[in-house]
Amino acid sequence: MKFLFSVLLIAICVNSFSQKDEPQLNQLLKLINKDTLYDDDLLPASFHRERREALRKLMPDKSVAVFFTNPVRNRSNDVDFEYHQDPNFYYLTGYREPNAILLIFKENIEIDSIETNELIFVQPRNAKRETWDGKRLGADGVKEKLEFKYAYINSAFADITLDFNQFEHVLILPIEDDFRDDKNDRGDLYSLVKHFRNKSANAKVDKRKLTEYMALLRQTKQPEEIELLRKAIQITCKAQVELMKALEPGMTEYQTEAILEYFFKRDGAEHCGFPSIQGAGENSCVLHYNTNRRKVQDGDLLVSDVGAEYRGYTADVTRTMPVNGKFSPEQKIIYNIVLEAQNAGIKACKAGNKFWDPHNEALKVIQKRLIELKIAKTPFEAMQYFPHGTSHYLGLDVHDPGLYGPLMPNQVITVEPGIYIPEGSPCDPKWWNIGVRIEDDILITTGEPENLSSSAPRTIEEIEKLMKEPSLFNVIK
Ligand code: GLY
Ligand code: MN
Repeated sequence: MKFLFSVLLIAICVNSFSQKDEPQLNQLLKLINKDTLYDDDLLPASFHRERREALRKLMPDKSVAVFFTNPVRNRSNDVDFEYHQDPNFYYLTGYREPNAILLIFKENIEIDSIETNELIFVQPRNAKRETWDGKRLGADGVKEKLEFKYAYINSAFADITLDFNQFEHVLILPIEDDFRDDKNDRGDLYSLVKHFRNKSANAKVDKRKLTEYMALLRQTKQPEEIELLRKAIQITCKAQVELMKALEPGMTEYQTEAILEYFFKRDGAEHCGFPSIQGAGENSCVLHYNTNRRKVQDGDLLVSDVGAEYRGYTADVTRTMPVNGKFSPEQKIIYNIVLEAQNAGIKACKAGNKFWDPHNEALKVIQKRLIELKIAKTPFEAMQYFPHGTSHYLGLDVHDPGLYGPLMPNQVITVEPGIYIPEGSPCDPKWWNIGVRIEDDILITTGEPENLSSSAPRTIEEIEKLMKEPSLFNVIK
């Protein structure tokens, strides 16, 4: 009935629209297509196909690469964590459901009367399960939407006559064996891994090369990936700006988190790329603090380290802000050292430089300044206040894979030095409980580095000015 109504509506519209109305007509046709009610800027099937082709080029002759989806993780009793696909699987397929296996062959092979260089086995449509958990693509959906020529349901993997001994290299990623066996499902991840192991028991299985190939591919971004990263980072910067306006003593760390995550979702991000780190006062000195249960106090610094995930790609932007809107003299001194270190690090983000150059530049600044302030006596002692690296790759994972070789155009890395002086540190107590991290997401280009997160203010003057602005999100004032 609904279908007939749509056809009738289209017929009436087509008749009554003249050629100059074509844009409105297209708009209407778009509205009738239910798919346009969902996110419409996911990576296209062609992107994932090209990435499989790029991997195939790296693979040695007579090889197969085998990928599994991420397991479903149980939270407690009959509640699972929100599902998140394995980023390698997503990169190569666009598939976002569990219980699937992907096989990429270097050459075309003949298998059960078809000839192909790739196969995917996915979870089947299931009316009962879909009533509870939502729509599945099924094998036909994978053919139609993800444009695989050959897609089968996962339980069929056990039955295919594929002899892994025919390959000179069976390339796999490490399998952690930390998932459950759904005994009622002979196509679940547990069964797929078991059948793969049976079929490849005597084959030459290589667990190292594939990790390297994926790191090589993913460390340099395609233009479509950079676009998605830009969106994720823009959303994150906007949220940090809104937090600066709203922050005030008496709020809780989780309320600061709520403001950020409201803006992430409001602006279309599907999740956080990692648990939001909102550490104030003593918690500003805890690197990956994310319990976020403390009340923030007048005089505290808040380290806000967050990333919106947009169509799979995550930002990672840290800002440190004074809860009362003004940095104290000691906080100012430490903040400006971190900023100086970060600027030195960003300057070193040049194609051809070593991956660790930004870190070494930032570290030198921090060591020199902490010794000048008598917070540390030696460069080695200074490192206790800056106990982490400055950079990591950014992409589908917040700590994206890469080979840590020379920096190359179209890589995106973070530059995030910090100084953390917890209570009890061997220095003047006036420095205690000051924790500062400043983190930006940097695109390596053929010329100057591009700071993708520059729209979130970094200087003391800019932050203090912004914090004076009114906010709808004040919870105390
Ligand atoms: N944003 C957390 C980290 O980079 O470790
Ligand atoms: Mn980071």
